[in-house]
Amino acid sequence: MKAVVIKEFGTADGLEVVDLPVPDPAPGQVRITTEAIGVGGVDAMLRRGTLGTFGFEPGHVLGSEVAGRVTAAGDGVDASWLGRRVWAFTGLSGGYVEQAVADIDEVVALPDGLSGVEAVALGSSGVVAHFALERARFAPGETVLVRGAAGSIGISAVQLATRGGASAVAVTTSSPERGARLRELGATHVLDRSGEGPHDAPVGYDVVIDIAGGAQLPLFLDKLNPNGRFVAVGLIAGLPPADFGARLLAGFRSSLSFATLSLDTVPVAAKQAVRAAQFAEAAHGKLRGVVHEVLPLDGAAQAHRGMDEGRVFGRVVLVP
Ligand SMILES: NC(=O)c1ccc[n+]([C@@H]2O[C@H](COP(=O)([O-])OP(=O)(O)OC[C@H]3O[C@@H](n4cnc5c(N)ncnc54)[C@H](OP(=O)(O)O)[C@@H]3O)[C@@H](O)[C@H]2O)c1
Repeated sequence: MKAVVIKEFGTADGLEVVDLPVPDPAPGQVRITTEAIGVGGVDAMLRRGTLGTFGFEPGHVLGSEVAGRVTAAGDGVDASWLGRRVWAFTGLSGGYVEQAVADIDEVVALPDGLSGVEAVALGSSGVVAHFALERARFAPGETVLVRGAAGSIGISAVQLATRGGASAVAVTTSSPERGARLRELGATHVLDRSGEGPHDAPVGYDVVIDIAGGAQLPLFLDKLNPNGRFVAVGLIAGLPPADFGARLLAGFRSSLSFATLSLDTVPVAAKQAVRAAQFAEAAHGKLRGVVHEVLPLDGAAQAHRGMDEGRVFGRVVLVP
């Protein structure tokens, strides 16, 4: 089967299409013939090696989410999965392939009416956004700021905060055109990457969902209202300055909170229940994953170049 591997960590030119043996599912796993593969910001981070290579070596197969049909089941897996259309999380590897394997706990059946392409635009990101807002104890009537909103996690967070009754949903993005697209999804105020925006934007926010991290993170701690909650879900721009905690403590008397949220610590059953519910909503048009572009599997390097150049809005999807 065809697979895309990191031949060399760094630029997108380091990605290579290779032939690999079709994997056999281990006990508790299924094999999936892929019809769609999500290309995520986490794949780009891993490929760049910005935060290290997580112990992976050259030859590592990229990709973490796929949709397709179950074609083989390992020992201990109910045979009723065979032939079903599913979405699956494959971990930090094994997604950019024609035949993927995944633990059955990380597999969700797809409802009729939801394409594989739509499923991988929403499957990981919608759940991250859900649990980030939950971690932030977001409540109706509160003001929310989504930083790095033009990616698939941010797009989900904007929609969930909007329909959850936020009184304002501000976003950071790098251009008015991207801001206009975020407004269509529910954003009420569009800020630039440093948090500057229109004069009618809220001065403070009850909740900040931050996908960007990096040197500018402290600027957004300063935007928290008293009792405000800041939840970091991504580090696209790298780690914040080492003394960012001092900035947080400077707001001690405002009772501010800072948390990180990783899906790794969310119980599998809780993730899967939310994911299945979101897929059902997406099948009825109540929640959207935004697909930037659909490319063939050997377009993976092109997809990564698009991310590196900041051209992607939502998700790029590979279709083998
Ligand atoms: N917490 C979890 O469990 C979990 C799970 C999966 C992934 N993640 C993390 O989530 C991140 C990827 O999320 P994603 O795929 O939604 O994002 P993404 O598509 O990689 O990026 C989202 C947006 O962030 C903006 N951005 C890029 N560089 C920036 C910078 N230096 N400063 C400010 N904004 C910047 C860009 O929009 P503009 O150009 O419009 O500003 C970009 O479109 C990764 O860090 C990944 O590790 C976390």
